[in-house]
Amino acid sequence: MNLQISSFDDYESAYNHSVSDPESFWAEIAQNFQWRKPWKKTLEWDFTAGTTKWFAGGKMNITENALDRHLATRGDQPAIIWESNDPQEESITLTYKMLHQRVCQFANVLKKHGAKKGDRICIYMPMIPELAIAVLACARIGAIHSVVFGGFSAQSIADRINDAQCNIVITSDGSFRGNKEIGLKSTVDDALIQCPSVQKVIVSTRTRTPVSMLKGRDVWWENEVKTVSSDCPAEEMDAEDMLFILYTSGSTGKPKGVVHTCGGYMVYTTYTFANVFQYQPGQVHFCTADIGWITGHSYIVYGPLCYGATSLMFEGVPTYPDAGRFWDVIDKHKVDILYTAPTAIRSLMGFGLDYVNGKDLSSLKVLGSVGEPINEEAWHWYNDNIGKGNSPIVDTWWQTETGGIMISPIAGITKTKPSYATLPLPGIQPILVDEKGEEIVGNDVSGNLCIKFPWPGIIRTTYGDHERCIQTYFSTYKNLYFTGDGCLRDEDGYYRITGRVDDVINVSGHRIGTAEVENAINMHLGVVESAVVGYPHDIKGQGIYAYVICEKVPDQDEDLTRRDILATVTRVIGPIAKPDKIQFVSGLPKTRSGKIMRRILRKVAEGETSNLGDTSTLLDPSVVDEIREGAL
Ligand code: WTA
Repeated sequence: MNLQISSFDDYESAYNHSVSDPESFWAEIAQNFQWRKPWKKTLEWDFTAGTTKWFAGGKMNITENALDRHLATRGDQPAIIWESNDPQEESITLTYKMLHQRVCQFANVLKKHGAKKGDRICIYMPMIPELAIAVLACARIGAIHSVVFGGFSAQSIADRINDAQCNIVITSDGSFRGNKEIGLKSTVDDALIQCPSVQKVIVSTRTRTPVSMLKGRDVWWENEVKTVSSDCPAEEMDAEDMLFILYTSGSTGKPKGVVHTCGGYMVYTTYTFANVFQYQPGQVHFCTADIGWITGHSYIVYGPLCYGATSLMFEGVPTYPDAGRFWDVIDKHKVDILYTAPTAIRSLMGFGLDYVNGKDLSSLKVLGSVGEPINEEAWHWYNDNIGKGNSPIVDTWWQTETGGIMISPIAGITKTKPSYATLPLPGIQPILVDEKGEEIVGNDVSGNLCIKFPWPGIIRTTYGDHERCIQTYFSTYKNLYFTGDGCLRDEDGYYRITGRVDDVINVSGHRIGTAEVENAINMHLGVVESAVVGYPHDIKGQGIYAYVICEKVPDQDEDLTRRDILATVTRVIGPIAKPDKIQFVSGLPKTRSGKIMRRILRKVAEGETSNLGDTSTLLDPSVVDEIREGAL
């Protein structure tokens, strides 16, 4: 495949081509893939209607691109290297041949249990090779996968299954994370009480904890694969058929199912993988994300495999058995590219250099950062101590909705600047707008980040509710895709993402909607109302701060009540949504029309208690004093 940019001049000419003639630019790139039938129209789009189609009419299957076409040239090369949570457990290498064989075999298991093209299949699994196999097996037969991150609660799983009407769930008995063992099947069982659409549950074994297995519904992965052949021709898909749904939080209500389709997503993730990381044949790419998030979908599974790369998949956490684990993994597998989140870097920084010194990191060539803004201190620590000053850092800005990386340096080619995502990749046309939607031109300016032209990885719809897709992304500003992020463009035209401008908070690189957390808190016995905001947190980037009104203000039992509320939030959403701080209040600052003035709550949560701005429009300004005095 020839789609790599190799110099800054090359970047500039690719960029110019992509803007002056986007269709011919992407059509040329798409030629590098395997199509069963050529597409009829490169691009059709209408941002007012929130619709985009790339390569429509083109017939393909993403697994033929990720697996089959590599068999002749690199069948014996590792496709996936798996590293266990437990450093004593042997790692597993799946060559392209082996992965192909196992994907086909499991695809036949899915078919045996009635799965067919267009069905939705929920996957709730630990970071084991079977997870990647399950994802690819769905794609092989044209079933739409909906992966739910292993940290979500039964209720969250049920909501996602019901929203997409999944008929099959693929899970495991349990998962290992650090020194913890977490039940997964039992959580799925709790979820399924509310999910009449689910006919079959396929369970792989990992922890071999006792699990309930219902006759007629539940089957073991290991038994099933013995009953089928490993010959499974790929289903023919249209480029615009759905590939997957991935739920993500927004500023209102329940998480929405972001939909990506087969062709454009394949082209975009592969192109960005090859270019941003400047992947060279034989290199080992280590993305530390979980496949339950978009980063894992795009840069552990699809991007690397479609490019014929070796992708390292790690089951554990950065601090187990100690804070040197990432460095041990890099040393052991001679990792070339490390792609991780600022929150992990900040947390490891806190443990000091003793865990880094003495580890051989000389194989590293490129470092990546994703998920949240990287502060300068973390950037320098990463650069100096991990990259030893000679591995470029790519600070990659993108979103679940964008499918792949949007604004980022190209490793070794774009001059980097700490905390800047730098320049848009070819095909990406960012613009900054003010509150009214007027474009802010020139440099050394800031505004809301929008994109004015479609790229192949753009969100196609929100599952089952296209109106919501239009409302969320295409109606704030006319004819623009609105990202929800604030951004500045400096004097060199470099972009720096400053954080969300909506009610989404980014906790350890995970998106959480304040409304979602409030709904969960409000379900707790005795809670009258709550308001949730983000606040700066040294390690997590942002922490969750909740103001809670209870029927009876708890006195000596305050702490117990806090813990009870945390238990409810864990039950409703999952541990990742637990507030870091809960302040009990008797009222919330509301305007006369009943709107909560979050600006004030954010300021108090940030520790700013003097300069709260204009409070004259408040219904009862005295609540502000109480909130200020009780600040945690
Ligand atoms: C934030 C993760 C600053 C941003 C791939 C975005 C970032 C949200 C960066 C999407 C970055 C992601 N610098 N902020 N390099 N990357 N973000 O959907 O606020 O989980 O809107 O996708 O993370 O989070 P999501």
